[in-house]
Amino acid sequence: MRGAEESGLSVVAGPAEALPGWVTSDPSLAEVVVSEEQIRRRTQELGAQISADYQGRPPLLVGVLKGAFMFMSDLARVIQLPVEVDFMAVASYGSSTRTSGVVRIVKDLDTDLAGRHVLVVEDIIDSGLTLAFLLRNLAARHPASLAVCALLAKDVGVAGPELAYVGFRIPPDFVVGYGLDLAERYRNLPCVRRYAGDPMP
Ligand code: IMP
Ligand code: MG
Repeated sequence: MRGAEESGLSVVAGPAEALPGWVTSDPSLAEVVVSEEQIRRRTQELGAQISADYQGRPPLLVGVLKGAFMFMSDLARVIQLPVEVDFMAVASYGSSTRTSGVVRIVKDLDTDLAGRHVLVVEDIIDSGLTLAFLLRNLAARHPASLAVCALLAKDVGVAGPELAYVGFRIPPDFVVGYGLDLAERYRNLPCVRRYAGDPMP
C-alpha cells in the first residue's frame, strides 16, 4: 500500500503530533479542559439555538475584548441570521489571575444600542463582577433586549448575572487558550487548558 507521503497527500496529524513545540515545552500548560472539537461542536449548537431564539430580530453581537475575539469570530459564523458585530474592551484593576470588580471601559462601542437586541459575547465568567458591571452599563443605553453568551463559566457558587447561553461549565481553575490569556500570552492556543504555573505579578 502506498503511504501518504509517497502519494503526495498531506498527512493529517493526530492531536498529539499536532502540538507545536511552544506548547509541549511549556511546563505551565497542563491538561486540556475543553478541546478544539468540543468547542467546535458546542459553538455550532449555540449558534443554532441563538438563530432560533432571535428569528426575526437579528441581534447585535457585542464582543468583549480581548478574550472573546476567537469565540466571537467562530460563533458569528454559525449564526444563521444577519447579525451585526461590535466590540468593547474592558480592563479590571488588580492582579492578573483575579478580578477586582473595579472595571473600566478601555474601548467603547461604535453602535447606538437604543432599541437593539444586544447579545454580549464573553470569554469566561468567573466571579461575574466584570459582567455585572457591563450589563449595568449596557442596560442604561436602552437596548430592546440584553442577553449574554459566555463560552465558559466557572462553578464558583457565586450568584452571577443570569446567562442565557453558556458553552461549558468548568472547575474554578485558571485556564488559558482560545482567546483567554495570562499576561497576554496563550490566546492563540486552539483549545482551553489549565494553567499550572505561578500566577504572574
Ligand atoms: P470575573 O469578573 O471574575 O467574572 O472575571 C471575568 C474576566 O476575568 C474574564 O473576562 C477574563 O478576562 C478574566 N478571567 C477570569 N478567569 C479567567 C481564567 O481562568 N483565565 C483567563 N482569564 C480569566
Ligand atoms: Mg483577561
